[in-house]
Amino acid sequence: MAEMTAVGVVGLGTMGAGIVEVFARAGVPVVASEIDGTALERGRAHLVGSTDRAVSRGRLSPEDRDALIGRVRFVVGLSDLADVDLVVEAVPERLDLKRLVFGELSKICKPSAVLASNTSSLSVTEIAVTTDRPDRVIGLHFFNPAPVMKLVEIVRTVVTAPSVVADAQALCARLNKVGVTIGDRAGFVANALLFGYLNQAVTMLESGFVTRDDLDAAMKLGAGLPMGPLTLLDLIGLDVGLEVLDTMYDRGGRNQRHAAAPLIRQMVTAGLLGRKTGRGFYTYGTPAPSPEAPADGGTDVVLVTDEPVIAAAMASDRPEDVVGLHVHRDAVAEVVRSVLTGDAAVAAARAVCAERGLVPVVCGDRSGRVVNALLFPYLNDAVKMLEASYATVEDIDHAMTLGCGYPAGPFEQLDAIGPGVVLDGLRAMYEETREPGLAPAPLLSQLVTAGRGFRSESLR
Ligand code: 3HC
Repeated sequence: MAEMTAVGVVGLGTMGAGIVEVFARAGVPVVASEIDGTALERGRAHLVGSTDRAVSRGRLSPEDRDALIGRVRFVVGLSDLADVDLVVEAVPERLDLKRLVFGELSKICKPSAVLASNTSSLSVTEIAVTTDRPDRVIGLHFFNPAPVMKLVEIVRTVVTAPSVVADAQALCARLNKVGVTIGDRAGFVANALLFGYLNQAVTMLESGFVTRDDLDAAMKLGAGLPMGPLTLLDLIGLDVGLEVLDTMYDRGGRNQRHAAAPLIRQMVTAGLLGRKTGRGFYTYGTPAPSPEAPADGGTDVVLVTDEPVIAAAMASDRPEDVVGLHVHRDAVAEVVRSVLTGDAAVAAARAVCAERGLVPVVCGDRSGRVVNALLFPYLNDAVKMLEASYATVEDIDHAMTLGCGYPAGPFEQLDAIGPGVVLDGLRAMYEETREPGLAPAPLLSQLVTAGRGFRSESLR
């Protein structure tokens, strides 16, 4: 595979078409395969659209775009893959379908060819055993948008040959990607951490705790993420998200954090899959609704920081005028309303935030509010993953920065916030909800007791 002369990509949906572009950009000839002519044209249009966009931004010359597209041979069916050195499968996330495709590839491809799956969460081992060469089957998990995100998770099974893993690592370098090699566990590193957070965000929305726009603003501006969780789910596709969650729930020990929020399932049933269908949490291709008109003020607001809001409200003689205010990154202010807070107080707090250049995010009165309530459990999940010896501190940090565009990895963030602060926050959330998934990881408590950070030598 190191001397690869041609590769095949099977399935030209968002991910498959993106993977075709990654190879073609690196100068590798690609045989791009789909099941029928319609799907093939959709895949071709995706590649043309993406490369045209790069040309319009001055990132690619028209000549280089033409050369890139010229490296791709679009075919229907699998028979043209007989001579390629590597096939990357990117068909929909269903085990039966993937096993069928690998069974066919095993009959068609030359014996030396490596067969790779871009599965997000399914067992690569269960896919590998349907072939005549389980030792030459590997996971190559790219991230959406594939041409942009630097990470590739290289998933080795218990039977993958070491030479195939080494070749995959060399391939990633050739593609200008960073390969992180890990074992075959549901959701691997990035999805296992990302989807608990995304699912919790949808649950927050579903419960009416915070609105769609406020939720996304809180995590984009308040936590510094490249996009809010609902925008990201629309990018990934809610159908993909649901498959990933269901698989992780079933394969990953029935962790409640991966039990898909009912709203996701309902939206998938209704065909609201996100960008690809024009509507998910947002609508695409139509003008955005005008921002909510500010309500009239009409009250003085008592601002309370860093306490449970209802207790402070009860201690005052004007509980309806009390809100909590928590600022993140000098960009977002969570405006916390208790069960007694009046609409006028919330409107006045919004106005105060706007005057100070802060985006107000109105939410209910719960531990962690929005930003910490979503951030801390994700950090806790990363500690649990480290505790289970699934991946190293560096690999987990790389997965989130290079796979999901996070400004810092979870351990970098834990050390920056302070493990003690995160531990206290988790304890408060756990006591309030008694949700097992929020119980602090023992390793987190131990490091706090020891007064150590996560990126110290002993944990590397
Ligand atoms: N295809 C190709 N290139 C794209 C693209 C696409 N779909 N979308 C954006 N880009 C490129 C743009 O051309 C631009 O490149 P340039 O700087 O060379 O001109 C660059 O990416 C930045 O794009 P924009 O300026 O339009 O927009 P943003 O700055 O907001 O970046 C983003 C867009 C890169 C998508 C960024 O918001 C981001 O990193 N979001 C997080 C994405 C993420 O988490 N992905 C992982 C999802 S999980 C997954 O895929 C696993 C799976 O198993 C479910």
